[in-house]
Amino acid sequence: MKESLALGYVGVTGNVSEWRTFATDLYGMQPIVDGDALRLRVDDRAWRFSIEPGPNPGLAYVGIELDSSASLDAVVARVKAAGYDAEENSVLAKKRNVGRLVRTIAVDGTPLELFIGGMVVAEPFASLTGAKFVTGGAGLGHVLMLVPDLQAALHYYTTVLGFRVSDVVVVTEGVDAYFLHGGCRHHVIALASIPGKTGPDHVFVEVDSITTVGRAWDKTRAGAAPIVRELGQHANDPVTSFYTQSPSGFAFEYGVNATRIGNEDEWVFKRWDSIYLWGGQVGPAGHL
Ligand SMILES: [Fe+2]
Repeated sequence: MKESLALGYVGVTGNVSEWRTFATDLYGMQPIVDGDALRLRVDDRAWRFSIEPGPNPGLAYVGIELDSSASLDAVVARVKAAGYDAEENSVLAKKRNVGRLVRTIAVDGTPLELFIGGMVVAEPFASLTGAKFVTGGAGLGHVLMLVPDLQAALHYYTTVLGFRVSDVVVVTEGVDAYFLHGGCRHHVIALASIPGKTGPDHVFVEVDSITTVGRAWDKTRAGAAPIVRELGQHANDPVTSFYTQSPSGFAFEYGVNATRIGNEDEWVFKRWDSIYLWGGQVGPAGHL
């Protein structure tokens, strides 16, 4: 059976004050103070990003949301059968405001939190910039991981976790990026292997308007954040987006007009010869 897997939330270690400015002033997320941490809302969920102070800035954990308890049990059974530790943690579930949570470490070292039942709050989401984020059944967005062993990572994320390959993009000669879906979003996880580079490349969030993207791009060009990639339209999604460097080092992609995978049986696997249809030039902080 195909489970539905979506990006539910992202945990980050970093400078809370820098993240607050980055996420709220530039991207229009709503800050919620939680002790020493900062939680960020983008929709009706209690939070989607949690920024926690710490000495090693980076991506701390990735929350993968399943569509049902049965799906969570099925995925966890495959993870255990493949030889990985995966234990249900009710204390952590409460901390994350979710119904059930199973934590495991992916083959590439990414801490994953497989969960169901993300908390929806009655208080409406409010953006300082007027941004409206596209989430719902498509989930929060996607993460691109640079992995040391592409074949091992592909096996883990598809055969073990249950993601399906949407398409492949030739990044440069000899470097292919794989884009994996777990439902209607074109990709939730993307994987590439680049010698000497491992870890999270970027996190993507989607908004509903090119005006919102364009206004954030104007602020970025005026110095709000270091430019990783300039505004451009991807070939495969085909999202129009730009990338900045987040306060925790990995890049942050902000875009619009992502395609949806409707009937998976009709989806045609493709291999693209380029990342972009237009734009997307590498900026001063570019790193892929
Ligand atoms: Fe992306």
